[in-house]
Amino acid sequence: MKTIAVLTSGGDAPGMNAAVRAVVRTGCENGARVLGIRRGYAGLMAGDMYEMNLRSVSDIIHRGGTMLYSARSKEFTTEEGMQKAISVCKENGIEGIVVIGGDGSFRGARDLSVRGINCVGVPGTIDNDITCCDYTIGYDTALNTIMDMVDRIRDTCESHERCNIVEVMGRRAGYLALNAGIAVGATSILLPEIDFDIQTDIMDRMRRTQKTGKKHFIIVVAEGATEKLVEQGISGISGLARFIEHNIGVESRATVLGHVQRGGSPSVKDRVIASRMGSYAAHLLLDGVGNRVVAMQKEEILDFDIVEALNMTKSLDKDIYRTAMEISI
Ligand code: F6P
Repeated sequence: MKTIAVLTSGGDAPGMNAAVRAVVRTGCENGARVLGIRRGYAGLMAGDMYEMNLRSVSDIIHRGGTMLYSARSKEFTTEEGMQKAISVCKENGIEGIVVIGGDGSFRGARDLSVRGINCVGVPGTIDNDITCCDYTIGYDTALNTIMDMVDRIRDTCESHERCNIVEVMGRRAGYLALNAGIAVGATSILLPEIDFDIQTDIMDRMRRTQKTGKKHFIIVVAEGATEKLVEQGISGISGLARFIEHNIGVESRATVLGHVQRGGSPSVKDRVIASRMGSYAAHLLLDGVGNRVVAMQKEEILDFDIVEALNMTKSLDKDIYRTAMEISI
């Protein structure tokens, strides 16, 4: 009987549970022993795991977060930590691990694979920033959460004829900010990938729209773009609110949405894609294939060599940004 394991690592994302469920059920249905490792690589090094069965993953498909808990481990990036993990795998007869997480987690999976433990990565992060994939588990739910939250902010923004600046997650990637920005009709969207100038990209746009009769404004800022604000002498989104009040005379408020974006019941899209990816990953391991990352490209589920996947590049679609700027005026 084969023994495979599953863990979730890095920032959690809605839909991770659906992926865990799919790995466990696919494994069990195909005669494997499936171990659930708690708290990512930290739990692997500590041997914190338990045998799962079909019923261990009942009643989780609709839940956000991850039933296996998640963690980021510095120790695991050291050779000593890696050796601890390998010993634990050997002691427990683990032949392969499905690693659900972001690219940091995939680097760990690559390092384990090189040392003889088959690993398959499944992309789970709300940021959608995994280079080999069009889509990552959790992204759709997070986008919908942001839209819902900003729609609420918009009600009060409109009532008071204000400017509301909303910071959304995405330390290195602006996918959430760009697409949420379009969905909420933001006047300006600030992204880490695209250079902006406060005068032309915010102040001038606000003045132009004011002339057409617009009285309330939403500005969406990706977390990773706030550093660029600082470079232009503005201290984060609160500083931007003060700057707008002072220069345009529109009362402004700043909101950091924060971790609310990572929670909540996964959307249909996240549940379905997570289920497909989790099952695909388990099948790879059951077939003795490791060192792969499961990906989604143009609606198709496929897999890549981990090293190849980590070396790929993906860029934000500038046409989408141009469209957003053209119509949100
Ligand atoms: O999961 C990725 C992410 O959501 C980033 O967008 C964000 O910067 C980061 O997690 C914050 O994570 P934490 O607060 O858990 O360190």
